[in-house]
Amino acid sequence: MPDRPILISPSILSADMAHLASDVGLIEKAGADWVHVDVMDGRFVPNITIGIPVVKALKKHTRMPLDVHLMIVEPEQYVEDFVKAGADWLTVQAESTYHLYRTLQVIRDLGAKAGVALNPATPISAIEHVLEEVDMVLVMTVEPGFGGQKFIPAMLPKIKTLAELIKQRQLPVDIQVDGGINKSTIGEAARAGAKIFVAGTAVFGAPDVKQAVEDLRASV
Ligand code: DX5
Ligand code: ZN
Repeated sequence: MPDRPILISPSILSADMAHLASDVGLIEKAGADWVHVDVMDGRFVPNITIGIPVVKALKKHTRMPLDVHLMIVEPEQYVEDFVKAGADWLTVQAESTYHLYRTLQVIRDLGAKAGVALNPATPISAIEHVLEEVDMVLVMTVEPGFGGQKFIPAMLPKIKTLAELIKQRQLPVDIQVDGGINKSTIGEAARAGAKIFVAGTAVFGAPDVKQAVEDLRASV
């Protein structure tokens, strides 16, 4: 894997939904790299959050890339709308579509970077034949659906195996981790091979957002 610096992508799932623009301003000032937007439909996951209009509205308030994580069934129905709304990175769950290969190709054809996410129980083999079609693999380190859950340590060997596979095949693909990332877990995830770190509670739940982003970076 090419040596790229680590990136911090705070999840607005833990922000104040009534003050999203100012919360996103806070993380931008704090030096965060991306904004992670968790889209949930109440079907793929047992929770409903936000969608296309919020992505469109946020786009006007930040220069940071919008890192949109779709936890919805049949994402292929909506990828065009999300890219048009301003998603720079668009990640779909491997389990959520019958036609993963085509869905990823469409995302790239629309001009966005494509990501594919794996639930904790989904093996790497589910994506080994689409790795050429993605810019990022998201290894879920909790079951998707809610913020504030505990990091699953059994995902560390999965990250490591995936990092080795990407290196072996010399692909320009980075590994993102999402779920339970904080000062105590970010280091081991980084050592296993993750480069992009989503953090909700650890950033927006902290008393000082700037300090929280700095602490995460310092703990890698
Ligand atoms: C979970 C979401 C995560 C979540 C992470 O389904 O995909 O992005 O917001 O939250 P924390 O960092 O609190 O585990
Ligand atoms: Zn997420």
